[in-house]
Amino acid sequence: NEQTPQEHTLDNSLALLKDGYDFIFKRRREMDTEIFRTRLLGQPAICMGGKDAAELFYDTTKFKRSGAIPKRIQKSLFGVDAIQTLDGDAHRHRKMLFMSLMSRERLDAFAELLREEWEAAARRWEKLDEIELFGESQELLHRAACRWSGVPIDEKTVRQKADDMGDMVEAFGAVGPRHAAGRRARRRTEEWLEGFILDLRAGEFKVPEDTAAYAMAFHRDLQNRELDARMAAIELINIVRPIVAIGRYVVFGAIALHEHPQYREKLAADEGKYRQWFVQETRRFYPFTPFLGASVIHDFQWKGHEFEEGTMVLLDIYGTTHDPKLWENPDVFRPERFEHWDGGPFDLIPQGGGGYDGHRCAGEWLTIDAMRVGLEFLAKRLDYEVPEQDLGLSLSRMPALPESRFKMRNIGLKNEAV
Ligand code: HEM
Repeated sequence: NEQTPQEHTLDNSLALLKDGYDFIFKRRREMDTEIFRTRLLGQPAICMGGKDAAELFYDTTKFKRSGAIPKRIQKSLFGVDAIQTLDGDAHRHRKMLFMSLMSRERLDAFAELLREEWEAAARRWEKLDEIELFGESQELLHRAACRWSGVPIDEKTVRQKADDMGDMVEAFGAVGPRHAAGRRARRRTEEWLEGFILDLRAGEFKVPEDTAAYAMAFHRDLQNRELDARMAAIELINIVRPIVAIGRYVVFGAIALHEHPQYREKLAADEGKYRQWFVQETRRFYPFTPFLGASVIHDFQWKGHEFEEGTMVLLDIYGTTHDPKLWENPDVFRPERFEHWDGGPFDLIPQGGGGYDGHRCAGEWLTIDAMRVGLEFLAKRLDYEVPEQDLGLSLSRMPALPESRFKMRNIGLKNEAV
């Protein structure tokens, strides 16, 4: 097509791994465009970013997810044929199952469990010289996630199981050992939770009806059939794994707090509005999801650009949350920008865009709550030192993580309840 800027390249898959989060955004800047064509994974691809592109991407009459997510991502991050790959009525029905777990009451119950786990973890940390916040926060989130979801915790294996959840996320932008570790972690976790689902169905184990474990075990699809036990396990992992993944945002929040200490008092204040802004700015500013993929259902035109049936389309998530057309001084961390944000569904899209009946993240509210709890705890309840370490984030490491995983020292509890 003549109008759409085109990269002339045999295949850009390697550049994608090298440029990482900046892959699409860098080319958008260089070509001064919201959309361009290239080749990825041996096929033509359209890459696009910005608010209008996000709105287009979430038009389910134009794009579908089935066939759009590479098997290597399904076998590590998501689980094969899970909710992320569904379309139409089957997707809506499955999505209602996930959203039914996210009532205000159940979210508040999660926040309460999470506070207990921060408290318990901090009492252990007080006795240690130094901790790594990344692994520790993943473990405490895993404990809260299991208690909330009805999944039993075995003290002997809890850290290993939390690490497995984390390793599935670590796998997504990796080739080689980090990817392989994620696949192994997924196999182990699916086997464990498939056995648990079968126990629940056999009545050998009982959980409250408002938990994710119960919901996945006894959900019926549109044909009134139970999910295959493996699929029920996969969807249960689609609750626990991303809760554990919030550990990454806890670390990003801790880095932001360390680099902008003027917010510590504001975050500790009872009113909570700064906590909300700080959380939103952390989700906007720090790299987590690089881009999302879908496939064109049938030929159409958009702003003069041709989209051909079957073409792979990538939406630039990182670039959209750093787009100077949407965010003033996007590379400055400034929570106050959210004082006047209009809450639009297509600009702050670190966890996807559009509405929750589409593919937008089912756990976005829970994520925001969990980050608020974590930041309040760090700012108000904990005393700690941050020893010299490299807290830099490389945009070519997907998913992003500081090498040192945020070390903390001389941890003590202050006399303020959270
Ligand atoms: C979907 C990001 C936390 C459950 C998504 C999507 C993104 C995302 C980018 C895809 C949106 C799309 O395909 O259009 C994140 C990030 C998180 C997070 C960065 C921070 C850790 C959570 C939590 C849960 C969760 C805590 C559950 C408790 C889901 C589910 C989907 C999803 C079930 C699939 C939705 C669908 O396909 O309809 N998330 N998420 N996520 N997320 Fe999250």
